[in-house]
Amino acid sequence: MTTTTRQGTPTEKAHEPILGTELIPKERYTSTEYMALEWERMWTKVWNMAGRESDIPNVGDYFTTELGPESFLIVREAPDKVRAFYNVCPHRGNQIRNAGMGHAESFQCAYHFFEFNLDGSKKFVPDEDTFTQGVPQETALAEVPCDTWGGFVWFNMNPDAEPLTEFLDPLARHLDPYHFEDYAIVQDMTLEWDCNWKTSVDAFNEVYHVQGIHPQLLESLDDIHVQIDLYERHNRYLVPFGLVSPRYQNQDEVTEPLREFMTASGIDPESFAGGMADVRPAMQAATRASAEAQGIDVSELNDDQLSDDYHYYIFPSLTFNTTALSFLFFRQRPHATDPNKMLFDMQTYLRMPPGAEPPPRPPHTRYKHGEVSLGLVLDQDSYNLPRVQKGMNSRAYKGLLINYRERRIRHMHKVLDGYLEAAR
Ligand code: FES
Ligand SMILES: [Fe+2]
Repeated sequence: MTTTTRQGTPTEKAHEPILGTELIPKERYTSTEYMALEWERMWTKVWNMAGRESDIPNVGDYFTTELGPESFLIVREAPDKVRAFYNVCPHRGNQIRNAGMGHAESFQCAYHFFEFNLDGSKKFVPDEDTFTQGVPQETALAEVPCDTWGGFVWFNMNPDAEPLTEFLDPLARHLDPYHFEDYAIVQDMTLEWDCNWKTSVDAFNEVYHVQGIHPQLLESLDDIHVQIDLYERHNRYLVPFGLVSPRYQNQDEVTEPLREFMTASGIDPESFAGGMADVRPAMQAATRASAEAQGIDVSELNDDQLSDDYHYYIFPSLTFNTTALSFLFFRQRPHATDPNKMLFDMQTYLRMPPGAEPPPRPPHTRYKHGEVSLGLVLDQDSYNLPRVQKGMNSRAYKGLLINYRERRIRHMHKVLDGYLEAAR
């Protein structure tokens, strides 16, 4: 049962838009022309997440972030000011910094030593008098709109971008009760996958595949009673955890995964006297008590949020599996040139009690598909992705046949259509 909380995450079902039933053309996943259109009209117009604010705590700290063919330099220019620049020298085009993070008093290009201030402005040009045309002060790093929300840094290649909070609406309101800024990053990896970035987004935006590839999850979540909410641009679904699926053979069984959940929430499954239906409320109560005992304020979270996966998709590329005290985050990035490739960023965050020292920042690691296990569930998810991409390239395959349970996929395409059709 959902309890009412102050300023909590809205739980009401959103009005259901009419999305149609037609096939979604497969070329959207396979064609370089479509990919170019996506880049010009969508990726360069939306707010993209660059990285974590806590990675640049001090003035002069910076990191790069790569998106499609571009690289960006994210810099803390002042204690309360983060800026984003194209990572390119205006002289002959050298990249200002290699991929990664670091600290700089100023940015000196490694080619002819043009130097730039932290605000991107020109600082020094060797032999400036030999540029007979002059080197105007505008010969600076090219800046793009940049803002922060939830402890993350965001940038937008559109100089006339709407404010970030407007772009995120209503999801900032939904997610603020979690206080993402109080979370520490504990895992950070990038996977090179042989599929389109949307093939990956789709794989996490429906639970229809649970009965197919994750049969073990039927012992710990309800894949049928899943509330789907489609907003103007973003969407979500709410997946109940801590109970068995209606598809599961024994509706009374306190399964092994449920016992593991109980242990993780601080309940001893041996002495637990309740039945299957009592597990979820018990987990919710135990999780709230354990959070409060650590001084973590979860008063803005309703009971369901303490057991369930409030699964948010921020268009176009971000997936948040939010649970009470941790969240699993995916960023799906397009490849620079190939619609059949993508980068999958996967990060785990833990909520920190007030005043607690966060664990050391884990190093970022990068792997090719299959080189490393991502855990059983994500291995099951990722196993199919290159096979799906290959199948979509078959001349026999026409497009995505989408059912009602998969409608977040259709919704994403409608939003994408809106960008592609918008006047430039
Ligand atoms: S390319 Fe940067 S100084 Fe010449
Ligand atoms: Fe899955």
